[in-house]
Amino acid sequence: MAQLIVALDLPRKDAALSLARDLQGLVPWCKVGMELFTLAGPGLLESLRTLGFKVFLDLKFYDIPHTVGRAVKAAATVGVDLLTLHCQGGGRMCREARAAVDGLAADSPTRPLLFGVTVLTSFAAGEMPGIAAAPADVAMNLAADAQGWGLDGVVCSGQEAARIKAASPGLLCLCPGIRPAGTAAGDQRRIMTPAKAVAAGADFLVVGRPILEVPSPAEAARRILAEMDAAE
Ligand code: C5P
Repeated sequence: MAQLIVALDLPRKDAALSLARDLQGLVPWCKVGMELFTLAGPGLLESLRTLGFKVFLDLKFYDIPHTVGRAVKAAATVGVDLLTLHCQGGGRMCREARAAVDGLAADSPTRPLLFGVTVLTSFAAGEMPGIAAAPADVAMNLAADAQGWGLDGVVCSGQEAARIKAASPGLLCLCPGIRPAGTAAGDQRRIMTPAKAVAAGADFLVVGRPILEVPSPAEAARRILAEMDAAE
């Protein structure tokens, strides 16, 4: 059963919490990315958990193994259920992140799931600097690597989910670039509708603007959830 994650891509803590309250009990996950986390800090994560949300911290770690391992540990101490790091950080960086989670004390507030970003859904073919291969092929290869490095899942386009799930059984797929039919793609390039992403086997769908930029976010979320249910 795929789960919906709302991306709280908003510039203020009070606006993010107000939206979260509108979606409480409807959407199980909130994603906090670099803009909101920079402005609101870890206190917001605790507020979201208090409201009953699972928290996805999307800072896409990419640094030396030592630094990433410590950042992963820090995320667990402030209550994060899922976080992202770049697969391009390589095996030693990803294994250090795995070791950080595996080494958490039994009473750690959370044990974050680790998701490796393969190829950003905003990249079209030919746009990745220095990489001529097709985004889907790069994503496939990085997903296989990510599983070998011990990550729980990968971030990929819905367009790649079926191939990745077939080639790397057990690896979870989290898909941004979700666009209900008729909604604007914006800067996203490798997009998919909620129904098609669920049918392709996505485990998590991340949706930002199609929920944030409409008069009734709760209504938009309900429609997306209904579309996901019908596709299961
Ligand atoms: O507004 P939209 O639905 O495009 O938001 C997608 C969200 O998913 C954004 O918060 C973006 O940072 C995030 N994301 C993404 N592509 C990735 C990883 C995360 O779009 N590969």
